[in-house]
Amino acid sequence: MGVTTEGTREQTVSIRKASLKDIPHIVRLSEQLGYIVSGDLVSRQISAISRDERHSVFVAVDSAERVLGWVHVALRTLVHVEPYAEIGGLVVDEKNRRQGIGRLLLGAAHRWAKGNRVATMMVWSNVIRVEAHEFYQNQGYILKKQQKVFQKNLHGDPFDTQEGRPQKGEEK
Ligand SMILES: CC(C)(COP(=O)(O)OP(=O)(O)OC[C@H]1O[C@@H](n2cnc3c(N)ncnc32)[C@H](O)[C@@H]1OP(=O)(O)O)[C@@H](O)C(=O)NCCC(=O)NCCS
Repeated sequence: MGVTTEGTREQTVSIRKASLKDIPHIVRLSEQLGYIVSGDLVSRQISAISRDERHSVFVAVDSAERVLGWVHVALRTLVHVEPYAEIGGLVVDEKNRRQGIGRLLLGAAHRWAKGNRVATMMVWSNVIRVEAHEFYQNQGYILKKQQKVFQKNLHGDPFDTQEGRPQKGEEK
């Protein structure tokens, strides 16, 4: 997908693929999303995504090329469901919200997903993001289910062996 330019209530906004020059802005906006990340991490992730056709990151920029928001969309393949696309992250600069920019970014993600022949878009959104829920429902999304998210640190796991259980002499 190339650059698309659309008018919002306030200004003309272009949506294009993210590039390395956008990294400081993606870092700044990620903070508004609640993620304190380094430029190094975002640089590595953008580089990896640019080589992976199953992912895409789009940015919204104003006529001065100022980054106003970003969206990450990815294809998901699970054994038990039809392939679908997922919004991995979406944020609009808090100074530019309610101007239609989120809708434009989501539209770019939808077009990318359709271009990749998937019929469903999913988004997992923290229960505290009440405003984002209003946004998604305004864009035609329906609440499918609510979940708990579990996480485990795999470093130093005593079961971290090839067979998935301690080897001789490793038992604790
Ligand atoms: C969610 C978010 C991306 C929406 O971006 P945005 O550019 O402000 O949204 P838009 O202006 O395109 O909104 C489109 C419509 O969605 C609805 N909407 C958007 N924000 C809303 C809010 N805070 N409260 C109620 N409805 C809202 C409105 O119907 C709006 O249309 P309107 O302004 O004509 O009434 C933005 O609020 C944001 O970045 N939030 C913080 C990060 C976040 O929670 N991201 C989602 C992670 S899952």
